[in-house]
Amino acid sequence: MTFYRDALLGDASNKVVSFTSSMEEDRLIVNEVIDVLVAHVKHLISMELIPPESGNKILTALDNLSRNTDELFKISAEDVHEAIEIYLRNTLGGEAGWLPLGRSRNDHVVAALRLKTKKLVIECVGEILKLRKLLIEKAHQNLETLLPLATHLQLAQISTVAHYLMYIEEMLRDFTNILYYTLSDFIDKSPLGSGAIAGTTVPIDRFELAKLLGFKGLVYNTLYATSSRDFISVTASIITSLSVALSRVAEDFIIWATSQFNYIEPPSSHLATSSMMPHKKNLVSMEVLRAWGGEAIGHLAAILSVIKSVPSGYNLDLQEVTKHLLRLLLNSIEALTIFRDFIKYMEFKDKVLNEEVQKYLLTVTDLAEHISMKYHIPYRDTHKEVASVIKKLGTTDINLICFELSKKLGINAEDLLKVVKPENVLRTRKVVGSPNPQLMLLTIKESEKLLDNDCSRYSALVEELGILNECK
Ligand code: ARG
Repeated sequence: MTFYRDALLGDASNKVVSFTSSMEEDRLIVNEVIDVLVAHVKHLISMELIPPESGNKILTALDNLSRNTDELFKISAEDVHEAIEIYLRNTLGGEAGWLPLGRSRNDHVVAALRLKTKKLVIECVGEILKLRKLLIEKAHQNLETLLPLATHLQLAQISTVAHYLMYIEEMLRDFTNILYYTLSDFIDKSPLGSGAIAGTTVPIDRFELAKLLGFKGLVYNTLYATSSRDFISVTASIITSLSVALSRVAEDFIIWATSQFNYIEPPSSHLATSSMMPHKKNLVSMEVLRAWGGEAIGHLAAILSVIKSVPSGYNLDLQEVTKHLLRLLLNSIEALTIFRDFIKYMEFKDKVLNEEVQKYLLTVTDLAEHISMKYHIPYRDTHKEVASVIKKLGTTDINLICFELSKKLGINAEDLLKVVKPENVLRTRKVVGSPNPQLMLLTIKESEKLLDNDCSRYSALVEELGILNECK
């Protein structure tokens, strides 16, 4: 069926309609499209711009439609906006024709997209907050659980599980903040009343209309309002950066779950086996999470590539951006849920980790620093002394290194042996943000406060949207 094009262009080719139609993707924004139409019609009625009886009939029909949107997707149309008009025409006849006064698909689709983006970003923040809470709890239980950390994938310094988990938490806190900022200052603005590009003669009160849909402000310029998708590319960049950050963490867990490392016990629900090799335990959830980081980059690249070179003003290219944004948001929310489930049920093997830190030279840097500071030897010289002892002995036994250094530098061996004990090392690291259990406890307390603030902000947002508050 053709509707918009009838009078001017006549029949359409089915192939072209199906190539250019957004009906499939519109399934994800149909509720928001209807919400925007309801607000629009209510506003037209309140401004006495359309006959109230017709307006009310349209509102009733839209209300019925919102309960069964499947109807719409049986209609062949350019998009859900046209399908709704066809549906209303079939249900109400000519009176349905009051609906499009003073509106264009261009301002309506982007309003629906902003509403959908807002909901999904809030949902995403909700997931992040739950994950942060879990990370803080788990860190608290693992203040003293030792963990070797690596740079260049070569073992570097001794740390703790709490330190590692709180790194993820702090990163997620930063993402929470930037998502809140993007939400309030970029996404949550109404483009409605902008017409197709340069406004409308229908005296719409844009502020009133924005208020009806709970938008915090306006996208003022009507050209910018209808044709920009920058709120999408910015949101997509943040979500992609988050996905990439999580994929690095997923990679850590994949490495730690190998028999060579054996640092963690993954929950068996996150493992898959091989159809051929009976012994295999593959950490597939983290593999898919790691892959998702890459796929997210693909979606972001698609969004930016589509937007680039589209001249100012609405062009149908912009329609093709929607599916990538929604995929990005929906998959990232799912990825966060899966990651949280993993963190909840995985275990760090403290016995293995304890043995591991004894096996390697993880406290030798602390030893060199101690010698330099206590015995007033410039650090570069100490570094060279320690390195040459390591080379000479060819050992990873830190005690042997202490004895040799004590001989060579004429300093008390007992003093050095005491310093390199893992529990002592951690306590002598006094810099803020290091794995020192006492400092980490303070970090945890501070993070709990910040999380509480972020949760209150989230509660206010979900209350406004009338969705379930899962922060508590
Ligand atoms: N379906 C389009 C979209 O999703 C909206 C339609 C605008 N079409 C137009 N010819 N102005 O972006």
